[in-house]
Amino acid sequence: MDLAGLGVHPGRFDRDGQQRLVAALRTAVAEAPFYTPTMPRSGKPFSVRMTNLGPLGWVSDKEGGYRYQSTHPETGRSWPAIPEMAMAVWQEISGYPHPPEACLVNYYASGTKMGLHQDADEADFSAPVVSISLGDTCLFRIGGMSRKDTTRSFRLSSGDVVVLGGDARMAFHGVDRIYPGTSTLLRDWFPDGGRINLTLRRVTRP
Ligand code: SIN
Ligand code: MN
Repeated sequence: MDLAGLGVHPGRFDRDGQQRLVAALRTAVAEAPFYTPTMPRSGKPFSVRMTNLGPLGWVSDKEGGYRYQSTHPETGRSWPAIPEMAMAVWQEISGYPHPPEACLVNYYASGTKMGLHQDADEADFSAPVVSISLGDTCLFRIGGMSRKDTTRSFRLSSGDVVVLGGDARMAFHGVDRIYPGTSTLLRDWFPDGGRINLTLRRVTRP
């Protein structure tokens, strides 16, 4: 498998940068708390907890399915702004001239995972997806454009940034597992640790 559009930037944020990003996230999440989305149709809860930052947030529930909306499904309030540090990373490495509109915040407790999926709810696939890992290390899996394509996996550690652009933009990807106790970054916030992933996306056509 040759995914020329897959970019991995290990250690893009040093410890100090990770801590500053977590501080910004804690302020934002106080306004827009993590909630548990549910699957379309079945209503089965995700194991990952989510919230969003930016003008649009990705949500899912039994009735409405996968979609973007400007308000938090539980509080009804607008999502808080995307932290400046995350906007700066997008500007530096996305190669895309317009800002992201959505920053999905996923929290993975130990023992949670995310099944293989494509990010396909956006109107503009010419923009890459930029994702930032914080906290415990995970095993990330990526395949090709078809669910049947062979996949490979690698670990993502706190501070790593991944770009899915070009032919990797529509690649199936997911998180197989979290390695508990591999980072102390989130301990003050989540006593059991875990992992936070920020996914920056352009949603609409500029
Ligand atoms: C996602 O695809 O929504 C998250 C990927 C990750 O947690 O690294
Ligand atoms: Mn995804």
